[in-house]
Amino acid sequence: MQEALKPKAARTLDVEDLTVRYGSSVAVDGVTLAIEPGEVVALLGPSGCGKSTLLRVIAGFVRQAEGHVRVDGATIDHLPANQRNIGIVFQNYALFPHMTVAENVAYGLRARGARGPDVAAKVNRFLETVQLGGFRERLPRQLSGGQQQRVALARALAVEPSILLLDEPFAALDRNLRLDMQIEVKRLQRTLGLTTILVTHDQDEAMSVADRIAVMNKGKVEQFDTPVAIYDRPQTLFVNGFIGTTNLMTGKIVSVESGAASVALDAGATLRLPSQGLSAGTAVLLSVRPEQLVLSTIPGLAHWKIEPGLSLPLGSQLVHEARTADGVALKIVEPRLAAPAPAGRLYCGLSADARPSLFPHHA
Ligand SMILES: Nc1ncnc2c1ncn2[C@@H]1O[C@H](COP(=O)(O)OP(=O)(O)OP(=O)(O)O)[C@@H](O)[C@H]1O
Ligand SMILES: [Mg+2]
Repeated sequence: MQEALKPKAARTLDVEDLTVRYGSSVAVDGVTLAIEPGEVVALLGPSGCGKSTLLRVIAGFVRQAEGHVRVDGATIDHLPANQRNIGIVFQNYALFPHMTVAENVAYGLRARGARGPDVAAKVNRFLETVQLGGFRERLPRQLSGGQQQRVALARALAVEPSILLLDEPFAALDRNLRLDMQIEVKRLQRTLGLTTILVTHDQDEAMSVADRIAVMNKGKVEQFDTPVAIYDRPQTLFVNGFIGTTNLMTGKIVSVESGAASVALDAGATLRLPSQGLSAGTAVLLSVRPEQLVLSTIPGLAHWKIEPGLSLPLGSQLVHEARTADGVALKIVEPRLAAPAPAGRLYCGLSADARPSLFPHHA
Protein backbone atom coordinates (compact mmCIF):
# COMPACT_ATOMS: atom_id res chain seq x y z
CA MET A 1 0.00 0.00 0.00
CA GLN A 2 1.18 3.51 -0.79
CA GLU A 3 2.32 5.50 2.19
CA ALA A 4 -0.40 8.12 1.85
CA LEU A 5 -3.12 5.52 1.83
CA LYS A 6 -2.56 4.16 5.31
CA PRO A 7 -5.78 4.33 7.28
CA LYS A 8 -5.80 6.67 10.24
CA ALA A 9 -7.84 6.17 13.37
CA ALA A 10 -11.33 7.20 12.29
CA ARG A 11 -13.01 10.09 14.13
CA THR A 12 -16.47 10.68 15.44
CA LEU A 13 -18.29 13.76 14.17
CA ASP A 14 -21.01 15.33 16.28
CA VAL A 15 -23.28 18.10 15.15
CA GLU A 16 -25.14 19.45 18.18
CA ASP A 17 -28.26 21.53 17.96
CA LEU A 18 -26.85 23.54 15.09
CA THR A 19 -28.68 26.60 13.81
CA VAL A 20 -27.57 28.84 10.95
CA ARG A 21 -29.27 32.08 9.99
CA TYR A 22 -28.84 34.25 6.94
CA GLY A 23 -30.34 37.55 8.05
CA SER A 24 -33.81 36.74 9.32
CA SER A 25 -34.12 33.38 7.52
CA VAL A 26 -33.12 30.10 9.13
CA ALA A 27 -31.11 27.83 6.79
CA VAL A 28 -30.29 25.13 9.35
CA ASP A 29 -32.66 24.71 12.26
CA GLY A 30 -31.47 22.86 15.35
CA VAL A 31 -29.77 19.93 13.61
CA THR A 32 -28.23 17.17 15.71
CA LEU A 33 -26.31 14.27 14.16
CA ALA A 34 -23.99 11.82 15.94
CA ILE A 35 -21.81 10.22 13.29
CA GLU A 36 -19.72 7.12 14.07
CA PRO A 37 -16.02 6.77 13.22
CA GLY A 38 -15.63 5.73 9.58
CA GLU A 39 -19.33 6.01 8.88
CA VAL A 40 -20.78 7.34 5.60
CA VAL A 41 -23.85 9.51 6.17
CA ALA A 42 -25.90 10.79 3.25
CA LEU A 43 -27.69 14.12 3.60
CA LEU A 44 -30.75 13.88 1.45
CA GLY A 45 -33.38 16.54 0.88
CA PRO A 46 -34.94 18.98 -1.57
CA SER A 47 -33.17 22.04 -2.94
CA GLY A 48 -32.73 24.78 -0.36
CA CYS A 49 -33.27 22.58 2.70
CA GLY A 50 -29.85 23.49 4.16
CA LYS A 51 -27.55 20.61 3.12
CA SER A 52 -24.69 22.73 1.74
CA THR A 53 -24.99 25.18 4.59
CA LEU A 54 -24.60 22.37 7.11
CA LEU A 55 -21.44 21.13 5.33
CA ARG A 56 -20.02 24.65 5.17
CA VAL A 57 -20.41 25.08 8.91
CA ILE A 58 -18.66 21.76 9.57
CA ALA A 59 -15.84 22.75 7.20
CA GLY A 60 -15.52 26.18 8.83
CA PHE A 61 -16.64 28.42 5.95
CA VAL A 62 -19.90 29.54 7.54
CA ARG A 63 -20.40 30.44 11.18
CA GLN A 64 -23.35 29.00 13.07
CA ALA A 65 -25.68 31.12 15.20
CA GLU A 66 -26.10 28.34 17.74
CA GLY A 67 -24.81 24.87 18.49
CA HIS A 68 -21.50 23.04 18.20
CA VAL A 69 -19.47 20.79 15.93
CA ARG A 70 -17.29 18.22 17.69
CA VAL A 71 -14.63 15.86 16.38
CA ASP A 72 -13.80 13.04 18.77
CA GLY A 73 -15.73 14.92 21.42
CA ALA A 74 -13.77 18.18 21.22
CA THR A 75 -15.41 21.28 19.75
CA ILE A 76 -13.82 22.71 16.60
CA ASP A 77 -16.02 25.82 16.48
CA HIS A 78 -13.09 28.16 17.18
CA LEU A 79 -10.84 26.71 14.44
CA PRO A 80 -10.53 28.38 11.02
CA ALA A 81 -11.20 26.18 7.98
CA ASN A 82 -7.52 25.51 7.23
CA GLN A 83 -6.90 24.19 10.72
CA ARG A 84 -9.77 21.74 10.70
CA ASN A 85 -8.64 18.36 9.49
CA ILE A 86 -11.50 18.19 7.01
CA GLY A 87 -11.52 17.62 3.25
CA ILE A 88 -14.37 19.08 1.24
CA VAL A 89 -15.50 18.62 -2.34
CA PHE A 90 -17.80 21.52 -3.17
CA GLN A 91 -20.98 21.43 -5.18
CA ASN A 92 -20.16 22.08 -8.91
CA TYR A 93 -16.42 21.18 -8.61
CA ALA A 94 -15.08 24.69 -7.92
CA LEU A 95 -11.59 23.95 -9.20
CA PHE A 96 -9.51 27.09 -9.61
CA PRO A 97 -9.74 27.66 -13.38
CA HIS A 98 -6.38 29.43 -13.73
CA MET A 99 -4.43 26.75 -11.85
CA THR A 100 -3.17 23.48 -13.29
CA VAL A 101 -4.40 20.16 -11.97
CA ALA A 102 -1.26 19.83 -9.81
CA GLU A 103 -1.64 23.36 -8.42
CA ASN A 104 -5.27 22.70 -7.61
CA VAL A 105 -4.40 19.56 -5.66
CA ALA A 106 -1.55 21.38 -3.86
CA TYR A 107 -3.83 24.24 -2.85
CA GLY A 108 -5.07 22.85 0.45
CA LEU A 109 -1.58 21.72 1.43
CA ARG A 110 -0.13 25.17 0.79
CA ALA A 111 -3.03 26.81 2.64
CA ARG A 112 -1.96 24.70 5.61
CA GLY A 113 1.62 25.94 5.30
CA ALA A 114 3.23 22.95 3.54
CA ARG A 115 6.15 23.78 1.21
CA GLY A 116 8.87 22.06 -0.80
CA PRO A 117 9.24 18.57 -2.33
CA ASP A 118 6.82 17.09 0.17
CA VAL A 119 3.96 18.93 -1.53
CA ALA A 120 4.87 17.63 -4.99
CA ALA A 121 5.18 14.07 -3.66
CA LYS A 122 1.74 14.20 -2.08
CA VAL A 123 0.17 15.79 -5.15
CA ASN A 124 1.56 13.00 -7.31
CA ARG A 125 0.43 10.32 -4.92
CA PHE A 126 -3.15 11.56 -4.77
CA LEU A 127 -3.36 12.17 -8.51
CA GLU A 128 -2.30 8.53 -8.95
CA THR A 129 -4.96 7.54 -6.43
CA VAL A 130 -7.69 9.07 -8.58
CA GLN A 131 -6.01 7.79 -11.76
CA LEU A 132 -4.99 11.16 -13.15
CA GLY A 133 -1.21 10.80 -12.89
CA GLY A 134 -0.72 12.01 -16.48
CA PHE A 135 -2.83 15.16 -16.12
CA ARG A 136 -0.66 17.25 -13.79
CA GLU A 137 -0.13 20.20 -16.12
CA ARG A 138 -3.60 20.49 -17.62
CA LEU A 139 -6.01 23.27 -16.79
CA PRO A 140 -9.49 22.38 -15.50
CA ARG A 141 -11.15 23.43 -18.79
CA GLN A 142 -9.04 20.81 -20.58
CA LEU A 143 -10.64 18.03 -18.53
CA SER A 144 -13.98 16.24 -18.74
CA GLY A 145 -16.53 16.71 -15.98
CA GLY A 146 -15.64 13.38 -14.40
CA GLN A 147 -11.93 14.16 -14.49
CA GLN A 148 -12.54 17.55 -12.88
CA GLN A 149 -14.51 15.83 -10.19
CA ARG A 150 -11.63 13.42 -9.54
CA VAL A 151 -9.21 16.37 -9.25
CA ALA A 152 -11.55 17.94 -6.69
CA LEU A 153 -11.54 14.64 -4.81
CA ALA A 154 -7.71 14.43 -4.94
CA ARG A 155 -7.54 18.03 -3.65
CA ALA A 156 -9.78 17.14 -0.72
CA LEU A 157 -7.81 13.97 0.07
CA ALA A 158 -4.37 15.60 -0.26
CA VAL A 159 -4.63 17.29 3.13
CA GLU A 160 -5.06 13.79 4.58
CA PRO A 161 -8.26 14.65 6.36
CA SER A 162 -9.97 12.51 8.97
CA ILE A 163 -13.35 13.79 7.80
CA LEU A 164 -14.51 14.03 4.21
CA LEU A 165 -17.42 16.22 3.13
CA LEU A 166 -18.81 15.69 -0.36
CA ASP A 167 -21.42 18.12 -1.70
CA GLU A 168 -23.22 16.49 -4.64
CA PRO A 169 -19.91 15.31 -6.07
CA PHE A 170 -21.43 13.20 -8.82
CA ALA A 171 -24.38 15.35 -9.87
CA ALA A 172 -22.89 16.36 -13.23
CA LEU A 173 -21.75 12.88 -14.23
CA ASP A 174 -23.58 10.46 -16.48
CA ARG A 175 -24.88 7.22 -15.05
CA ASN A 176 -21.93 4.90 -15.69
CA LEU A 177 -19.28 7.36 -14.60
CA ARG A 178 -21.38 8.14 -11.56
CA LEU A 179 -21.41 4.49 -10.53
CA ASP A 180 -17.62 4.26 -11.05
CA MET A 181 -17.09 7.33 -8.88
CA GLN A 182 -19.45 6.06 -6.17
CA ILE A 183 -17.47 2.83 -5.96
CA GLU A 184 -14.15 4.72 -6.03
CA VAL A 185 -15.19 7.06 -3.22
CA LYS A 186 -16.49 4.18 -1.13
CA ARG A 187 -13.19 2.30 -1.64
CA LEU A 188 -11.05 5.33 -0.68
CA GLN A 189 -13.28 6.12 2.25
CA ARG A 190 -12.93 2.55 3.57
CA THR A 191 -9.18 2.40 2.90
CA LEU A 192 -8.53 5.72 4.60
CA GLY A 193 -11.05 5.25 7.43
CA LEU A 194 -12.73 8.55 6.63
CA THR A 195 -15.84 9.66 8.46
CA THR A 196 -17.84 10.97 5.52
CA ILE A 197 -20.89 13.10 4.80
CA LEU A 198 -22.24 12.91 1.27
CA VAL A 199 -24.84 15.43 0.14
CA THR A 200 -27.09 14.18 -2.59
CA HIS A 201 -30.45 14.78 -4.25
CA ASP A 202 -30.42 11.22 -5.47
CA GLN A 203 -32.12 8.73 -3.21
CA ASP A 204 -30.66 5.71 -5.03
CA GLU A 205 -27.18 7.10 -4.43
CA ALA A 206 -27.97 7.67 -0.76
CA MET A 207 -29.39 4.16 -0.42
CA SER A 208 -26.39 2.48 -2.06
CA VAL A 209 -23.46 4.50 -0.65
CA ALA A 210 -24.54 5.45 2.86
CA ASP A 211 -24.52 3.55 6.15
CA ARG A 212 -27.17 5.97 7.39
CA ILE A 213 -29.28 8.67 5.77
CA ALA A 214 -30.33 11.98 7.28
CA VAL A 215 -33.43 13.25 5.47
CA MET A 216 -33.63 17.05 5.71
CA ASN A 217 -36.58 19.32 5.15
CA LYS A 218 -36.65 23.10 5.69
CA GLY A 219 -33.47 23.16 7.76
CA LYS A 220 -34.43 20.25 10.01
CA VAL A 221 -33.46 16.58 10.03
CA GLU A 222 -36.75 14.67 9.86
CA GLN A 223 -35.21 11.21 10.19
CA PHE A 224 -31.70 9.83 10.69
CA ASP A 225 -31.64 6.10 10.15
CA THR A 226 -30.37 3.21 8.04
CA PRO A 227 -31.48 3.16 4.40
CA VAL A 228 -33.69 0.13 5.01
CA ALA A 229 -35.38 1.70 8.06
CA ILE A 230 -35.98 4.94 6.16
CA TYR A 231 -37.53 3.03 3.28
CA ASP A 232 -39.58 0.60 5.36
CA ARG A 233 -40.44 2.74 8.37
CA PRO A 234 -40.53 6.42 7.40
CA GLN A 235 -41.31 8.49 10.51
CA THR A 236 -43.00 11.40 8.79
CA LEU A 237 -45.17 11.96 5.73
CA PHE A 238 -42.40 14.06 4.22
CA VAL A 239 -39.82 11.27 4.50
CA ASN A 240 -42.40 8.82 3.26
CA GLY A 241 -43.06 10.85 0.15
CA PHE A 242 -39.46 11.82 -0.49
CA ILE A 243 -37.98 8.31 -0.43
CA GLY A 244 -39.15 5.89 -3.06
CA THR A 245 -42.51 5.82 -4.77
CA THR A 246 -45.53 5.35 -2.64
CA ASN A 247 -49.32 5.09 -2.80
CA LEU A 248 -51.40 7.09 -0.33
CA MET A 249 -54.93 6.06 0.53
CA THR A 250 -57.27 7.70 3.03
CA GLY A 251 -59.17 5.84 5.73
CA LYS A 252 -60.08 5.68 9.38
CA ILE A 253 -59.08 3.50 12.30
CA VAL A 254 -62.31 1.86 13.44
CA SER A 255 -60.87 -0.09 16.35
CA VAL A 256 -57.60 -0.96 18.06
CA GLU A 257 -57.08 -4.18 19.97
CA SER A 258 -53.75 -5.17 21.54
CA GLY A 259 -51.74 -3.09 19.09
CA ALA A 260 -53.65 -4.17 15.98
CA ALA A 261 -55.79 -1.61 14.20
CA SER A 262 -58.72 -2.22 11.91
CA VAL A 263 -58.38 0.37 9.19
CA ALA A 264 -61.40 1.08 7.01
CA LEU A 265 -60.11 2.41 3.71
CA ASP A 266 -62.22 4.87 1.76
CA ALA A 267 -61.41 2.66 -1.23
CA GLY A 268 -63.66 0.02 0.34
CA ALA A 269 -61.69 -2.58 2.31
CA THR A 270 -60.80 -3.20 5.92
CA LEU A 271 -57.19 -4.01 6.78
CA ARG A 272 -55.67 -5.34 10.00
CA LEU A 273 -52.42 -3.47 10.64
CA PRO A 274 -50.12 -2.59 13.54
CA SER A 275 -51.71 0.52 15.05
CA GLN A 276 -48.35 2.37 15.14
CA GLY A 277 -49.44 4.27 18.23
CA LEU A 278 -52.64 5.65 16.69
CA SER A 279 -56.01 5.28 18.40
CA ALA A 280 -59.52 4.35 17.27
CA GLY A 281 -61.35 7.15 15.49
CA THR A 282 -58.22 8.64 13.92
CA ALA A 283 -58.43 9.65 10.27
CA VAL A 284 -55.34 8.19 8.59
CA LEU A 285 -53.29 8.16 5.43
CA LEU A 286 -52.09 4.69 4.60
CA SER A 287 -48.85 4.61 2.63
CA VAL A 288 -47.85 1.50 0.74
CA ARG A 289 -45.06 0.92 -1.79
CA PRO A 290 -46.03 -0.18 -5.32
CA GLU A 291 -44.23 -3.53 -4.89
CA GLN A 292 -46.26 -4.23 -1.75
CA LEU A 293 -49.59 -4.17 -3.56
CA VAL A 294 -50.97 -7.14 -5.47
CA LEU A 295 -53.69 -7.42 -8.07
CA SER A 296 -56.20 -10.17 -7.53
CA THR A 297 -59.23 -11.79 -9.12
CA ILE A 298 -60.72 -12.49 -5.70
CA PRO A 299 -62.95 -10.08 -3.80
CA GLY A 300 -62.72 -10.10 -0.01
CA LEU A 301 -62.74 -7.98 3.11
CA ALA A 302 -59.07 -6.98 2.69
CA HIS A 303 -59.37 -6.38 -1.06
CA TRP A 304 -60.70 -3.25 -2.66
CA LYS A 305 -62.11 -2.91 -6.12
CA ILE A 306 -60.08 -1.17 -8.78
CA GLU A 307 -60.45 -0.07 -12.33
CA PRO A 308 -57.32 -1.26 -14.17
CA GLY A 309 -55.40 1.21 -16.32
CA LEU A 310 -52.23 0.90 -18.35
CA SER A 311 -49.54 -1.71 -17.73
CA LEU A 312 -46.01 -0.64 -18.63
CA PRO A 313 -42.88 -2.79 -18.72
CA LEU A 314 -40.02 -1.19 -16.77
CA GLY A 315 -36.87 -3.29 -17.03
CA SER A 316 -37.55 -6.55 -15.24
CA GLN A 317 -40.81 -5.25 -13.82
CA LEU A 318 -44.33 -4.43 -14.85
CA VAL A 319 -45.92 -1.25 -13.56
CA HIS A 320 -49.71 -1.27 -13.47
CA GLU A 321 -51.90 1.74 -13.06
CA ALA A 322 -55.27 1.37 -11.38
CA ARG A 323 -57.94 3.60 -9.91
CA THR A 324 -59.80 2.96 -6.67
CA ALA A 325 -63.54 3.47 -6.23
CA ASP A 326 -62.84 6.74 -4.39
CA GLY A 327 -60.75 8.00 -7.29
CA VAL A 328 -57.18 7.43 -6.08
CA ALA A 329 -54.62 6.53 -8.76
CA LEU A 330 -52.46 3.59 -7.64
CA LYS A 331 -49.21 2.18 -8.94
CA ILE A 332 -48.63 -1.53 -8.54
CA VAL A 333 -45.34 -3.19 -9.46
CA GLU A 334 -44.74 -6.87 -10.00
CA PRO A 335 -41.95 -8.96 -11.54
CA ARG A 336 -42.60 -9.13 -15.29
CA LEU A 337 -41.98 -12.84 -15.72
CA ALA A 338 -44.17 -13.90 -12.79
CA ALA A 339 -47.08 -11.70 -13.84
CA PRO A 340 -50.24 -13.64 -14.67
CA ALA A 341 -52.59 -12.56 -17.44
CA PRO A 342 -54.45 -9.43 -16.37
CA ALA A 343 -57.91 -10.83 -17.09
CA GLY A 344 -60.31 -10.40 -14.22
CA ARG A 345 -57.79 -8.90 -11.82
CA LEU A 346 -60.19 -6.26 -10.61
CA TYR A 347 -59.19 -6.21 -6.95
CA CYS A 348 -56.18 -4.92 -5.12
CA GLY A 349 -54.74 -5.87 -1.76
CA LEU A 350 -51.57 -5.91 0.29
CA SER A 351 -48.89 -8.47 -0.48
CA ALA A 352 -48.05 -10.93 2.30
CA ASP A 353 -44.86 -9.06 3.20
CA ALA A 354 -46.31 -5.54 2.88
CA ARG A 355 -45.35 -3.08 5.60
CA PRO A 356 -47.60 -0.08 5.06
CA SER A 357 -47.16 3.04 7.18
CA LEU A 358 -50.01 4.91 8.84
CA PHE A 359 -49.95 8.65 9.38
CA PRO A 360 -52.62 10.82 11.03
CA HIS A 361 -54.55 12.64 8.33
CA HIS A 362 -55.27 16.26 9.06
CA ALA A 363 -57.69 17.03 6.27
N1 LIG B 1 -24.90 33.06 1.42
C1 LIG B 1 -26.22 33.02 1.61
N2 LIG B 1 -26.94 34.11 1.93
C2 LIG B 1 -28.27 34.07 2.15
N3 LIG B 1 -29.01 32.94 2.06
C3 LIG B 1 -28.36 31.81 1.73
C4 LIG B 1 -26.94 31.77 1.49
N4 LIG B 1 -26.60 30.50 1.19
C5 LIG B 1 -27.73 29.79 1.24
N5 LIG B 1 -28.79 30.55 1.56
C6 LIG B 1 -30.18 30.09 1.76
O1 LIG B 1 -30.19 29.11 2.77
C7 LIG B 1 -31.06 28.04 2.44
C8 LIG B 1 -30.28 26.73 2.42
O2 LIG B 1 -29.36 26.76 1.33
P1 LIG B 1 -28.38 25.55 1.01
O3 LIG B 1 -27.44 26.00 -0.03
O4 LIG B 1 -27.81 25.04 2.28
O5 LIG B 1 -29.41 24.48 0.43
P2 LIG B 1 -29.15 23.04 -0.19
O6 LIG B 1 -29.95 22.07 0.60
O7 LIG B 1 -27.69 22.79 -0.31
O8 LIG B 1 -29.81 23.18 -1.65
P3 LIG B 1 -29.35 22.56 -3.06
O9 LIG B 1 -29.82 21.15 -3.04
O10 LIG B 1 -30.11 23.39 -4.05
O11 LIG B 1 -27.87 22.70 -3.20
C9 LIG B 1 -31.70 28.41 1.11
O12 LIG B 1 -32.94 28.99 1.36
C10 LIG B 1 -30.73 29.42 0.52
O13 LIG B 1 -31.39 30.32 -0.33
MG1 LIG C 1 -26.41 22.59 -1.92
